[in-house]
Amino acid sequence: MRPAPIAVALDAPDLETAAHWASLVTPHVSTVKIGLELYLRYGPEVIASIRGASGVQVFLDLKLHDIPNTVEGAARAVARLRPAILTVHAGGGPAMISAAVEALPATQIAAVTVLTSLSEADLERIGIAGPSEDAVRRMSAMAVGAGAQALVCSPREVATVRAEVGPDITLITPGIRPAGAESQDQARIATPEQALADGADLLVIGRPITGAADPGAAAAGIAAALRRTLADSDRAV
Ligand code: C5P
Repeated sequence: MRPAPIAVALDAPDLETAAHWASLVTPHVSTVKIGLELYLRYGPEVIASIRGASGVQVFLDLKLHDIPNTVEGAARAVARLRPAILTVHAGGGPAMISAAVEALPATQIAAVTVLTSLSEADLERIGIAGPSEDAVRRMSAMAVGAGAQALVCSPREVATVRAEVGPDITLITPGIRPAGAESQDQARIATPEQALADGADLLVIGRPITGAADPGAAAAGIAAALRRTLADSDRAV
């Protein structure tokens, strides 16, 4: 059975815990996500420890944002780690996004549009006026025009973004909570089934899996629900 289109966010305090979670979930999910905390604490070697002998894809969530030359160098520096996905901030602009895309041809560059932690008042204070959905749509079109093959957006925006960028761009959504799960600090959430139905390709899920008594069983349960959704809609995983 193919693993489900889930990226488990390994937001662990230490490497042993992250590697343990990875070993439990990799039979069921396509991808694990390594963020800044683990990467900065343990360095690039964290990738090999997490990947182990499994074929799981690594989503390196470094959210790069700098001048194009610096981002190009940073992207080249992680090439040997063979991440399947690397994030950059769309706000770095088209030249920066293109630099990352050109530096890492074997990796999907995913542009983070507007951080879901920002309110419309925050956006106005940093000079982005109007509804956040408009900003997400503009930034998505710009990032794709610059060569980004993937976008990170909230599940509430995924249908709008899909309509804007068409079928060929990978849409990645955090803020996923199975029905009945606690929302914790996520505000704009959707169930895994809803996010897929709205057009997401890869669901970032952290605590509903890693905080479960049995993370492997939690991942298997969500993966099974997604397979049913995909079978109903005739989409291939
Ligand atoms: O535990 P939870 O499912 O909320 O984890 C979601 C993951 O997605 C975390 O690693 C978080 O940093 C990340 N993320 C997010 N919202 C964004 C971008 C990334 O929650 N807009």
